[in-house]
Amino acid sequence: MYRNQKILIGVGKQELAILPNMANRHGLITGASGSGKTITLKVMAESFSSAGIPVVLADIKGDLAGMPFPGASNDKIEERLQTLAISDFTFENFPTHFWDVYGEFGHPIRTTIENVGSDLLARMLGLTEAQTGVLTIVFKIAKDNGWKLIDLKDLRLVLQYVGDNRSQYTLEYGNVSLQSIGTIQRNLLVLEEQGGDFFFGEPSISIKDFIRFDPTDGRGFINVIHAVKLFQKPNLYATFLLWLLTDLYNTLPEVGDIAKPKIVFFFDEAHLLFEEMPDYMIKKVTQIVKLIRSKGIGLYFISQSPKDIPEEVLPQLGNRIQHALRAYTPAEQKVIKAAASSFRENPEINTEEAIMSLGTGEALISFLNEEGEPNMVEEATILPPQSRMGTITEEERHSILDKSLFKGKYDTKIDNESAYENLKIVIEEKQKAEALALEQKQKEKEEKAKAKEKKKKSKAEKAADKVTNSAMNTLGRKIGNSLFKGLFK
Ligand SMILES: Nc1ncnc2c1ncn2[C@@H]1O[C@H](COP(=O)(O)OP(=O)(O)OP(=O)(O)O)[C@@H](O)[C@H]1O
Ligand SMILES: [Mg+2]
Repeated sequence: MYRNQKILIGVGKQELAILPNMANRHGLITGASGSGKTITLKVMAESFSSAGIPVVLADIKGDLAGMPFPGASNDKIEERLQTLAISDFTFENFPTHFWDVYGEFGHPIRTTIENVGSDLLARMLGLTEAQTGVLTIVFKIAKDNGWKLIDLKDLRLVLQYVGDNRSQYTLEYGNVSLQSIGTIQRNLLVLEEQGGDFFFGEPSISIKDFIRFDPTDGRGFINVIHAVKLFQKPNLYATFLLWLLTDLYNTLPEVGDIAKPKIVFFFDEAHLLFEEMPDYMIKKVTQIVKLIRSKGIGLYFISQSPKDIPEEVLPQLGNRIQHALRAYTPAEQKVIKAAASSFRENPEINTEEAIMSLGTGEALISFLNEEGEPNMVEEATILPPQSRMGTITEEERHSILDKSLFKGKYDTKIDNESAYENLKIVIEEKQKAEALALEQKQKEKEEKAKAKEKKKKSKAEKAADKVTNSAMNTLGRKIGNSLFKGLFK
């Protein structure tokens, strides 16, 4: 809910709300399984939307699809509303766009190989440093030759071509090992099976299409990315989110401090994002998280424990919600201690104990104040969602897709001219030239042989002529003589 210029999330001793001008200082939602993280995310997304802030979120279990339909009450919700003592709560539907990398449960999200870049693609493919180096070279060669890398078949053919002609590139670009090319090709096949063929291609998504508003009331659109299938491929899911983040960062202009964010992103199951992430990439992400704020973008990470987030990133996440954690082992107790100590202390609360005794949909909250400093931690009950909790039917989904602004814009894949077509011509011409050269050589060989033959022949002829001539001479003489004799007989 949004009221009095505040993005309301929960109620404790007082109403706990995010200030719109602090919403781009990012945030973190943590807590054990089933403690209420995803519903909190839903409530936050709704409240941001009401505040005129578009939202992007990945729906991992399919339980965030109810956004475009109003919620309904039940005993538990009634009880919650009574605790909250909010008189103006209403069930509402929210302006929603559905997206899906696989194009089944939403408009397809596609992008080009070029746009993803060699670094992120290398991570998607799980390449080693040396293999990444080769991929980078291949990208460079493609760029220098004007071969556009759009989809997987573009990259595959360029890889093959560079591999086949590697000696010609070594001097300028460095060594291209055939073994690395082989591994990249094999891993590309795996990526293709995982859905790479859906993700890479055109029309590619214009990231600005995530920034849309309901024309009637100015509420921000909630972009729900169906990620049930994508999430089964953690590597693909993580790099997909990273790409979204980088693309948004590269696309949006610098805006400095603004009254409210241009867009807010939620990264559910954020531990996957950072798991096995190489150091250089953690550095890159940390830098993006730091700088993206001034582009008016807010990032909210959701995970079980703050430990899932790199230490360099944690201090950048200003708005904090901690759901219940349980401590059965010393390691878990340590996590609770760390989580508790990350809050600005409230003398009235024993933070550690509070974390362990929170009920479902209750949380410890500390948002940033006007000065950008964290408020003292407070215990709160989170609002119930205004839109429907849980899943939707196929018909309901289609009713939303059918009236979507993007119906028809992204739905069909287009195969424009790119590296594959360019290289096919290059390879054909090369083959033709090679065939021609071979033919020429053959011809020359034949001609040489012919010339040799001729020479031999003429030599033989000359020799024969000599014999003939002398024979002729004798014969001639003989004939002449007999003629002569005959004439004068
Ligand atoms: N704010 C809330 N209002 C109403 N019900 C809630 C609220 N928070 C949690 N619940 C109830 O608790 C259930 C579990 O919450 P949720 O799915 O958000 O947990 P989670 O922390 O995301 O779990 P997981 O880690 O397994 O994804 C919900 O399905 C809902 O019934
Ligand atoms: Mg969840």
